[in-house]
Amino acid sequence: MNFELTEEQKMIRDSARDFARRELLTDVLERDANSIYPAQHVRRLAELGFLGMNVSPEWGGGGMDTISYAIAVEEIAKCDASVAVILAVHNSLACYGIERFGTKEQKEKYLRPLARGEKLGAFLLSEPEAGSDASSQRTTAIDKGDHYVLNGVKNWITSADKGSTYLVIAQTNPGIKTKGINAFIVERNSPGITLGPHEDKMGMRSSDTHSVMFTDVVVPKENRIGEDGFGFKFAMKLLEGGRTGIAAQALGIAEGAYERSLKYSKERKSFGTEIINHQAIAFKIADMATRIEATRNLVYKAAWLKDNLQPYGTESSMAKLFAADTAMWVTTEAVQVHGGYGYVKEYHVERLMREAKITQIYEGTAEIQRIVISRALSKD
Ligand code: CAA
Repeated sequence: MNFELTEEQKMIRDSARDFARRELLTDVLERDANSIYPAQHVRRLAELGFLGMNVSPEWGGGGMDTISYAIAVEEIAKCDASVAVILAVHNSLACYGIERFGTKEQKEKYLRPLARGEKLGAFLLSEPEAGSDASSQRTTAIDKGDHYVLNGVKNWITSADKGSTYLVIAQTNPGIKTKGINAFIVERNSPGITLGPHEDKMGMRSSDTHSVMFTDVVVPKENRIGEDGFGFKFAMKLLEGGRTGIAAQALGIAEGAYERSLKYSKERKSFGTEIINHQAIAFKIADMATRIEATRNLVYKAAWLKDNLQPYGTESSMAKLFAADTAMWVTTEAVQVHGGYGYVKEYHVERLMREAKITQIYEGTAEIQRIVISRALSKD
């Protein structure tokens, strides 16, 4: 068993860390306060090769492994989780979905610009009444021969506005439940697509989140992904990898809060000594570091399994479940370590605590991860 990162993985870690510290940290508080989209930072993600980093060079991508991707998301989330989620949805849902399951023509037309970072991808599964219960899709895709017509509403869509390549899940044949669901590549500027207002969120405030309405949107048949009825399995396969990305994001959020807590506790004095010398604080720091180390092992293991073409869905859900709870616990303790300073914006830990919360909700709540894990165990 080898726990050493490769030279390439170390290079990617250093590059992502450097970018996050030098560029994202400078305006993260302002973007968080005013819900400002990080347009120039997303352009830099493309220039640095992070958008499309896992796509094969054959399609214009970076050909990097999943561990490198997890490291990039982790490093970026330490400083700015909003940028990390844009990166995660683009790579592990949009790019992966088209590269793994798309036709040659779909890859030529849609994957190449995504892999070069010229376009941004989005994944449209959730609906007002289909969140955890993803099979209860109300958006319809009616088969009209050479095209489908889409009607319905999608909710909580990351990169809904700035993304131009949508992967949309919709119901074609409700009588046969999950087997009647299809997946489509839909262009954002198709006639009949309108967006709801930008969501005013607790955290991840600078990522672009909207509901998306489809009114008689025409989608050519060649834009369907896979066989008729493959859409639900497609969504589930995407979420397997997507959850490793969110786990990496939660890991980064936890590390960001831990690093700030360690630094603060070595500087701040009370009762005549640095607070790290008080056992009440030292034990918190020890527990933070231990939980983070355990999380990192789960996240990298899930990524390693994917890279080694082994089943990874259960491990990805385990990583996501544990990482999200770690992020929530570590950030809450980080605010406590900082005392009153933890409750104001300048010290970043209150932002990290708000960002941690969503990792227990999106790409499947903690409860959904337990369903996925326990169902897999019951089949063993
Ligand atoms: N791979 C392949 N097939 C799978 C699969 C997988 N991982 N998981 C399920 N399937 C198949 C099943 O084998 C079954 O196929 P058969 O009928 O042929 O046997 C079919 O799909 C239906 O499966 P289930 O009966 O298990 O389906 P279910 O309705 O009970 O749902 C669930 C299972 C796990 C609860 C699922 O609904 C789920 O994951 N819900 C959460 C949805 C979610 O994570 N949403 C996140 C939105 S995306 C997002 O947040 C992105 C963002 O912006 C950050």
